[in-house]
Amino acid sequence: MEKKYLFSPGPTMLPPEILLKMAEPIMHHREPEFEKIFAEVREGLKYLFQTKNEVLIFTSSGTGAMEGAVSNLLSRGDKALVVRGGKFGERWGEICKAFGIETLSIDVEWGKAVHPGRIGELLKSDPSIRAVYTQASETSTGVRHPIKEIAEIVRGYENVVLVVDAITGIGVFDIPMDKWGVDVLVSGSQKALMLPPGLAFAGVSDKAWKFVQRSNLPKFYFDFKKELKNLQKNQSAYTPAITLFVGLRESLRKIREEGLEAVFRRHERLAAATRAAVKALGLDLYAPDSPSNAVTAVKVPEGISGGKLKDLFFEKYGITVAGGQDQAKGKIIRIAHLGYYDRLDMVMVISALEMLLKEMGYAFELGRGVRAAEEVLMGS
Ligand SMILES: Cc1ncc(COP(=O)(O)O)c(C=O)c1O
Repeated sequence: MEKKYLFSPGPTMLPPEILLKMAEPIMHHREPEFEKIFAEVREGLKYLFQTKNEVLIFTSSGTGAMEGAVSNLLSRGDKALVVRGGKFGERWGEICKAFGIETLSIDVEWGKAVHPGRIGELLKSDPSIRAVYTQASETSTGVRHPIKEIAEIVRGYENVVLVVDAITGIGVFDIPMDKWGVDVLVSGSQKALMLPPGLAFAGVSDKAWKFVQRSNLPKFYFDFKKELKNLQKNQSAYTPAITLFVGLRESLRKIREEGLEAVFRRHERLAAATRAAVKALGLDLYAPDSPSNAVTAVKVPEGISGGKLKDLFFEKYGITVAGGQDQAKGKIIRIAHLGYYDRLDMVMVISALEMLLKEMGYAFELGRGVRAAEEVLMGS
């Protein structure tokens, strides 16, 4: 017998109580029963996004909300500044290109965070920039970008909006969008929200709504104005992923019950334990200076194939971890700890890592990583 475990940075493991809710008979989305769920979800999302404004909900993967954050904010001839420090930063650039938006890129070395000062310099030198697109947590490298500091800079420009992909940031670490002045905050369901893929979210500030009013790029499905109008009636413009809404109500209740502060603390602790374990094994972090609490990217030791290690995780222990993408392919593995994870989950995955590295010929003392993780986790 073998159990299966997901330690990938999305999709993530799901709590049984959410799964059970989603197994109930489906309802119709134009009936009061569903509108009640919708109303509760709206409030829950405001709490999670830390905003007084509505959070739009789309039935799509997270990229749908990213696309919407380009097509609804910008207009023909606008220029965008894109932070490209990994696969998802590159995606912002690709979406802009698809909509004919000229971009200026800040190419950040993989594993490093962007310097906010660089954004400040470019905004100062090029007054035609209308939006800054970045990630809060760049999942492909395990980096956390300094959103608070970036927001402080962008806030000073009345005609520039800050758009943050927090697909693996929301519900992991603190990104109070209203307080910091983030204009659009995007997320997706299959990460810290402990749901299957299929819902995308976009919190939109008052400043961003002004941009939406004047935007003239083509849009149809991901239309912020249309979706807001419907949302205010506890409806969506098109048939929503009804089952996922039912699960979302449950997941938002869970997060509220634990409390945002406690949720952030839990992620901090799990991430700290993972990082301590990895270092105790003599391995290097891929993003040592600004690691994200969503996922830990670990450099595989010399002579060991990251691809092989990832495959063995699954073959031997039923565990799915993520490998590296593009330039990091074969060089790193990524161990996620966002969403439905607790202390002993991390002990388990570190134990599997140790057993596999030992079998693959890496020299170290068995138990060192587990011990280091335990030392961080004890008493928390
Ligand atoms: C930071 C980040 N941005 C964007 C995406 C894309 O989201 P989706 O695959 O749901 O479209 C992901 C998914 O892993 C992500 O981690």
